[in-house]
Amino acid sequence: MMSRIEYRHPTENDLESIAKICNDSRRGLPSQRPVNVNEVRAKTFIDSDYDPEGAWLATVDGEEVGYANGYVDQARLAYGLRDSYVEDLEVMRGYRGNGIEETLLEMALIYLKGRGVSGTQIPYYRMDTWKKRLLETAGFLEVRRYYEMVRNDDREPEKAVFPKDIQIERRLINNCPDELPSRIVDVRNESFVDHFNYAPIPVDKIKNFFEATDTTLSVTFAVDHEKTVGFVVSEDRPPETEGVDKRDGWVAILGVVRSHRRRGLGRNLLLDSVNWLKSKGAERILLMVDAENEKALGMYKFAGFEVESVEILMVKDLP
Ligand SMILES: CC(C)(COP(=O)(O)OP(=O)(O)OC[C@H]1O[C@@H](n2cnc3c(N)ncnc32)[C@H](O)[C@@H]1OP(=O)(O)O)[C@@H](O)C(=O)NCCC(=O)NCCS
Repeated sequence: MMSRIEYRHPTENDLESIAKICNDSRRGLPSQRPVNVNEVRAKTFIDSDYDPEGAWLATVDGEEVGYANGYVDQARLAYGLRDSYVEDLEVMRGYRGNGIEETLLEMALIYLKGRGVSGTQIPYYRMDTWKKRLLETAGFLEVRRYYEMVRNDDREPEKAVFPKDIQIERRLINNCPDELPSRIVDVRNESFVDHFNYAPIPVDKIKNFFEATDTTLSVTFAVDHEKTVGFVVSEDRPPETEGVDKRDGWVAILGVVRSHRRRGLGRNLLLDSVNWLKSKGAERILLMVDAENEKALGMYKFAGFEVESVEILMVKDLP
């Protein structure tokens, strides 16, 4: 019986409940890794754009069961976009279908309207049918798809062979010095400027994430005469990470600046990442890509990746 449903803004004491809600709600989705409390904190109370007024927890008889976080990203506004996100929109399985998800979404949208943004975006996995229904009913429309791809090739990957004039630098990211996040952000922002849905990422957000995560991250830089012209970040998720049964390796992000494309850097950074992840014992290697990014799709298919699941980005105008 759903007797007493209440809504309130979270406090720092709720981080564990938020992690529990998100992990329960996303369990069974492809390649999910449970978030830890530090990662939730990095996305909320220590994030400069987080506003507790935009975040809502739903409780049933005092137990936290649902969460939504209406989020306005200042870097996107500064870049000229007037949009926003609902960062997480999750309800524990046993509690869906009682109006909780509708109310959480509605309250997040009221908050975002109050912030004066012109729209908002929320992704969902195609198999997450409750969220599809929720978003469609609320008037969201599909704008884009992302593919989650898995390398289903048991053969040893080829070794990366870079052009002779390019230097390669490999670094571990965890507990890294301050200069490393800003170097990653600079080359990321330069190489993604023509990518769908681009806005610059500020260094502090990346730094917060690096400090919070308990996976192992490494970066490979391609350097041409002291200028960083390409990079790939790889993420090793060992099975001892709570809730992960296979050792997953992620090609987390890969980019090459425009002046240095079509010279094999992208392909070889990808091979470098796959080889590093294999050397850590990855049983599966995964990545996420914009379904309309023909260049990257071609490169990933060539390296043995196939589409495993689909994430759909939904948007709604907030007039
Ligand atoms: C995708 C990206 C990394 C490719 O880097 P790159 O250094 O140009 O790639 P490569 O030179 O190694 O090319 C690899 C393969 O990609 C494909 N490719 C690259 N550029 C292409 C283009 N303009 N048109 C069609 N296919 C292309 C080809 O299959 C190519 O194989 P080829 O050597 O036989 O031509 C680069 O375009 C980029 O950084 N884009 C913006 C960020 C991004 O989309 N990142 C990946 C998504 S997470």
